[in-house]
Amino acid sequence: MFTSEHAHSLNSVPPRYSDRINHLLSKMHLVEKVGQLSQVMGNNSEELEQDVRQGLVGSVINEVDVNTLAKLQHIATHQSRLGIPLLVGRDVIHGFKTIFPIPLGQAASWDPELVKKAAKIAGKEASFVGINWTFAPMIDISRDPRWGRIAESFGEDPVLSSIMGVAMVEGFQGDNFQNPSGIAACAKHFVGYGASESGRDYCTTNIPENELRNIYFPPFKAAADAGVATFMSSFSDLDGLPASGNKWLMDSILRKEWNYQGFVVSDWESIAQLQIHGLTESPEHSALTAFDAGIDMEMVSTTYRQNLATLLENKQLSEHEIDQSVLRILHLKEKLGLFDIDYPIEDGQSSDARKQAFYANEDLDVAKQLALKSCVLLQNKNRTLPLNSEALNAIGLIGPLADDGYEQLGTWIFDGEEEASIPLKQALENELSRSVTLNYAKGLQNTRTDNIDLVDDAIKVAQSSDVVILCLGEESFLSGEAHCRAELDLPGKQHWLIEQIAATGKPIVLVIMAGRPLTLEPILNMVDSVLYAWHPGTMGGPAIADLILGESSPSGKLPVTFPRKVGQIPIYYNQKHTGKPATEEQCIHMDDVPERSPQTSLGMAATHLDTHFSPLYEFGFGLSYGEFEYTHLVLDKHSYAPGESINVKVTIKNVGRYDAEEVIQLYIRDLVGSVTRPVKELKQFKRVLICAGKEAVIYFKLEQSELAFYNRNMQLEVEAGTFHVWVSGSSKSNLTTEFIVTKP
Ligand code: GLC
Repeated sequence: MFTSEHAHSLNSVPPRYSDRINHLLSKMHLVEKVGQLSQVMGNNSEELEQDVRQGLVGSVINEVDVNTLAKLQHIATHQSRLGIPLLVGRDVIHGFKTIFPIPLGQAASWDPELVKKAAKIAGKEASFVGINWTFAPMIDISRDPRWGRIAESFGEDPVLSSIMGVAMVEGFQGDNFQNPSGIAACAKHFVGYGASESGRDYCTTNIPENELRNIYFPPFKAAADAGVATFMSSFSDLDGLPASGNKWLMDSILRKEWNYQGFVVSDWESIAQLQIHGLTESPEHSALTAFDAGIDMEMVSTTYRQNLATLLENKQLSEHEIDQSVLRILHLKEKLGLFDIDYPIEDGQSSDARKQAFYANEDLDVAKQLALKSCVLLQNKNRTLPLNSEALNAIGLIGPLADDGYEQLGTWIFDGEEEASIPLKQALENELSRSVTLNYAKGLQNTRTDNIDLVDDAIKVAQSSDVVILCLGEESFLSGEAHCRAELDLPGKQHWLIEQIAATGKPIVLVIMAGRPLTLEPILNMVDSVLYAWHPGTMGGPAIADLILGESSPSGKLPVTFPRKVGQIPIYYNQKHTGKPATEEQCIHMDDVPERSPQTSLGMAATHLDTHFSPLYEFGFGLSYGEFEYTHLVLDKHSYAPGESINVKVTIKNVGRYDAEEVIQLYIRDLVGSVTRPVKELKQFKRVLICAGKEAVIYFKLEQSELAFYNRNMQLEVEAGTFHVWVSGSSKSNLTTEFIVTKP
């Protein structure tokens, strides 16, 4: 949809709006201007057609019928007074028809180029039906796996989330709007939504400004600098001011400090919800508060349509302010090239053309590649994986997610189709030679059930097989918006099923499909290998089968920390050191405490008495069929003057038997700061293929600007001092060295 003659980032210096846009504005009546600020539910009703004809609607949401959209655009451009086309919005979060892994899984690939390709495909498929705006990427920093929307995020780290968010923006929009089938992207939910108390959705957030600036802002600032066309305000109450009524966020930070030139859309009815929050006392007050805060377009609720004219009449806002919002929206429509499309009254595409638009083979291959790279190997005792199918007579496949093309698509797939989704059972049937029998049993009706009627069949399958593949986890409904969990064990009777299958004594490969980290510690000793597939999308089955059978090596790395217990949450790698850090020496388990021990006798450290202080799996962790040894971490200097780049070199050898890609991660620690600094911070990473027996020398160039942080005075600065640096295949590493940044 983006046309090259309009190629221009929305977020560079304030745009000089085109003559066409300025002329259009000069002709608009107030009711038409307010119309541009309104997004309504799309449908094929005469009422909506009439509203569009009268110029009362600037955008529709959640309509995907190609002919309905063609008709609405035709009415908007041929039957209304000014012929302004519609923005057509849809949540194309991780695919439209071809579904890619959930964003948390995509983050686990640590492959931004592939994420960008996937977004480009999603935009192409969505644009085919007439969608020209997606409400993605969701770049909320998420440290709480109880929160269902962690599935939509890129996890806990600001750098990884920033890089993945920018990749998605560029994929959807095209590099600087060059992609002809590109659609506008939306950075959401600004800001801090992932810090919802107790992991309950829509809940209160309290985030100090320094934490906002150093942790939660960076992905949004990166998206803004990358030219993301729109922002979305969050539902959440941030320090007493819900984002949709928060002028500090939307004006002081976004407009003035970041010079953002795109437009802001509210989240679904979040303007009307200001009254429910108790920030406003009426819809009119909500409209004034949100508009004054800087929300340009209202999603679905109608406080703007109902009240802006009155507020203008009462001189509580100016027409000039309304004009600024209208111009931002018209400017995007022009960048999208919407004014240059003829919009026939019905979509002329043949049904064959439509079929070819979706599920193209090369697109399905990208979906498979991304699923392959997003799977994380968490455990592989006795090198059970990869399976050598030639040495096997029978494989037992068991579990409620082993043959379910719908559930593996994951949350937020409005338009994905089960029929196109290939489950693990079908993929194994396609891959395995005839010499290997595939025995199958569902084991449990679904992931939540307490009914164990199907377990006996599963036990029989295990007993008649050489090895068992258990495919368990969460149905897609158990994550995503409003789908939060207070416990994070495998739901239902899945633990019990594992016990029953383990009792047969067969080797077990556990494949988990889930929308979040789960507390797996209780089951790890009962299985040999654990492969975490998130919800892997349309091509999840073939990808998992390839990994299990050794066609490819797992290479995913965790974008989020896995807790041992829910009680450890929030637990994340880039935590502060505290004054009494948890160490092996300092920490005790309550089972080891002698009776009647006095209060201050043992273990005075930042830990719990009933679990080890470390996570179950750390951020950046992931095993491989390769085995990587890191040595010779060397810097070009020890002391750097302000502004000097730090050149890092490391040697990595694959001492394993398999060629494999490794995600090599570079972390730093700023030992002393004017505010306390995290014990580790990811700064760069590289995904590199290293063949078996080979070694590679890897170079990083760390710019000092990457060491900057918002200090005690809220200034973004590098502070002189000593830094530790690590390079490894996870955030837990012993290969370290240090350098000094000297004072100016
Ligand atoms: C939802 C979500 C938001 C989504 C919007 C439109 O409530 O919070 O992420 O884009 O409404 O569906």
